[in-house]
Amino acid sequence: MSIATQSTDPGLILALSKGRIFEDTLPLLAAAGIVVTENPETSRKLILATNNPDVRVLIVRASDVPTYVQHGAADFGVAGKDVLLEHGGEGLYQPVDLNIATCRMSVAVNAGFDYESAVRQGARLRVATKFVNTARQHFASKGVHVDLIKLYGSMELAPLVGLSDAIVDVVSTGNTLRANHLVEVEKIMEISSRLVVNQAALKLKRARLQPIIEAFERASKQSLQQG
Ligand code: ATP
Ligand code: PRP
Repeated sequence: MSIATQSTDPGLILALSKGRIFEDTLPLLAAAGIVVTENPETSRKLILATNNPDVRVLIVRASDVPTYVQHGAADFGVAGKDVLLEHGGEGLYQPVDLNIATCRMSVAVNAGFDYESAVRQGARLRVATKFVNTARQHFASKGVHVDLIKLYGSMELAPLVGLSDAIVDVVSTGNTLRANHLVEVEKIMEISSRLVVNQAALKLKRARLQPIIEAFERASKQSLQQG
C-alpha cells in the first residue's frame, strides 16, 4: 500500500528531485515553516523527514515528479515546465510558477552547420532530444520535417558524433554548448519550475495544503522582486 493511501493519515507528501530543484525549494519551504531535516546528497533515504511531523519529502527523478503527484503517491511536488510539457499535466493542478531553476529550451547545432539554410531548403532534420513532445510541436508549428531521436541525457554529444543535426535541450549559462562547440540557433521557450498539486489532494487536504501554496507563492514573488 502506498504511503499516501494508508488508512492512517500519512500527512502531506511532497515530491522533489535532488539538486537544483531541492536546493531552490528549501527557501520556499522555510517560508511555510518547513525545514527538511535530512540531506538527500548525503543520505540514501528516499523519504525524508521534516521538522513538521505532518510533512514528508519524497526524492524522485525530476521527470518522475509529475507521475508521483498525478497518481496521488505524493500530494504535491515541484517540476520544470520542460518536464510538465512532456508529461502532459494530466491530473495536476498548477497554481504557482515558482520562478526557480530558470533556463530556456533551445535548438542547438554544431558550429558551422547552416541551420537557417537547412530549414529554408526543407531538409529533413535529425533532432536528438529528451523533450520529444516539445520538439515535435515546435518543428511542426514551423512546418519543418524532423526525425526525432529520443535520448535521456548528454544531448550535446549527439551532433558531435553525427547522431543528429540538431538538439533540443535546456540552456542556462550556455557553458555546456560552448564547451562542446555547439551554437544556440533558436529559442523555443523560457522554462521555470512550477508547484504541482494532485487534484484530489487539493480537495481533500485543502486546509493543510492551501497555507503552504500561499507561502510558496509569497516567497517566490518576494525573491523575484529582490532579483
Ligand atoms: P532527470 O534526472 O529526470 O533526467 P534532470 O537531470 O534534467 O532530470 P535536473 O538537472 O535536476 O534534472 O533539472 C531539473 C529541472 O531544472 C529541469 O527540469 C529544468 O526545468 C531545470 N534545469 C535543467 N538544467 C538547468 C540549468 N542548467 N539551469 C537551470 N535550470 C535547469
Ligand atoms: C543541463 C542541460 C544542459 C545544461 C545547460 O544539464 O541538460 O546540459 O544543464 O546548462 P548551461 O547552459 O548552464 O551549461 P545538467 O547540468 O542538469 O546536467 P544533467 O542533465 O546531466 O543532470
